[in-house]
Amino acid sequence: MAPSWPEEVDVFSVPHSRMKKLVHKYSNMITTTDFRDEVDLTTLLKNLMNVFTEFKAHEQIENILIMRKLKNKLKAASVTSAAVCNCHSDNRLTDMLDLVVDGYRWAHKTEQERQVYGNKLMNALDIFTQNFIPHMEEEEEVFQPMLMQYFSYEELKDLKAKVIYQHYIS
Ligand code: FEO
Repeated sequence: MAPSWPEEVDVFSVPHSRMKKLVHKYSNMITTTDFRDEVDLTTLLKNLMNVFTEFKAHEQIENILIMRKLKNKLKAASVTSAAVCNCHSDNRLTDMLDLVVDGYRWAHKTEQERQVYGNKLMNALDIFTQNFIPHMEEEEEVFQPMLMQYFSYEELKDLKAKVIYQHYIS
């Protein structure tokens, strides 16, 4: 369903389009990686490091430019929203980055041990993806309407420009 707000004030769709491409990329890579092969595993780990570093930057941009400002607007309007406070409070991204970094230790072990690590990584990625896609949908479907409600049109245009710029330079 097409969003009911103009593109110039839609702060989530463009960055999320990039995040979804990255999800698609690692989902494809993981199906073709032979975890028993050291080079294959190391190549996957390098790609995942880049992907999850980009996810982390995305989260930080949202925290600083969107969520913090939205919380301030809600506070000024005496509105309480646990969803805004909690949307990035879990450690899923940090845990995934830790698991990927740990993979380099396993890359130098035996084929069987690399396969054990690969299975663990596949499961963790699967669970992460199952949470990350709905999380982005929540931002688009719940938080964007809140932004439309509590920010002026000009404020949102300015906010979107800053969000895009920060993603571009990070
Ligand atoms: Fe847009 Fe919080 O991921």
